[in-house]
Amino acid sequence: MISLSVILSLALIPFVQAQSNDPVLDIAAIQAHFSGSGLVPSLLPSFNPSAVLTVSYSGVGNISPGQALTQTQVKPAPSLSLTPANSSVSFTGKYTLVMADAGPPGTDETKGQTRHWLVNGVTVAGNTISIEGGTAITQYAGPAPPSGSGAHRYAVLLFSQPAMFTPPTGFSQPNMGVSVFNLEDYVTSANLGTPIAGNYLTVEEGTATFSASPTSAVVSSTLSGMAASKPSSPSTSAGGAVAQTPHANSAAASAGGSFAVILTSIFGLLAV
Ligand SMILES: *[C@@H]1O[C@H](CO)[C@@H](O)[C@H](O)[C@H]1NC(C)=O
Repeated sequence: MISLSVILSLALIPFVQAQSNDPVLDIAAIQAHFSGSGLVPSLLPSFNPSAVLTVSYSGVGNISPGQALTQTQVKPAPSLSLTPANSSVSFTGKYTLVMADAGPPGTDETKGQTRHWLVNGVTVAGNTISIEGGTAITQYAGPAPPSGSGAHRYAVLLFSQPAMFTPPTGFSQPNMGVSVFNLEDYVTSANLGTPIAGNYLTVEEGTATFSASPTSAVVSSTLSGMAASKPSSPSTSAGGAVAQTPHANSAAASAGGSFAVILTSIFGLLAV
């Protein structure tokens, strides 16, 4: 049932543009990708972002949600920016940035995730996320999944910190190395709530030694299909291009996006 819902949801993703000039549409697309790839509800119980998190790697450009990248491409830390859903959304206060390896689709997330980045006290100036002013509990460490372990999903998430933020026990000192933690436990202990924005990328090393789940297969083919269908793109990345939707297409794309999100929700409910 779950895999059927995933396949049906992903089949609709081509209607959702990877990145447009409409943040509301981009948020709907990212939400559809989080559900379609299983990150919701396995990594995050729910995901209702109020901003688009743009993740940009040097030499790649802005990634599309779930874009497949190589270890070499993701070695340097990406730059991040935020685009609010609308003018009444503003970014004051402090934020926690997390990058966690949710493994290939179907991973039991209760066993924890490898933590590739954890910075608290992050601030947002304009649309730029400023990491430098924060405390890097774990400095960015580029994904390096074990060979043959499938296409790992790396979620980059931004959470709003409460005014009285206290780092959870064991996470108060900077420069902890990469290790396994439990995102859900961390979020609960730090009182972070649900992410205000997020995105994800995938990295696969070698050839999977198990039969790849339909989810990952559909995600990559879908995304390359999307990239191939773009008439022109500012990005020269291999795995998927940045889609700049002409404004005239927004209404149609928006209808498709909403449709996909609604169906994703319906099938999500059926799958329970
Ligand atoms: C602005 O975006 C926020 C977050 O998505 C939403 O809750 C709110 O209803 C939106 N406001 C308007 C006026 O569209």
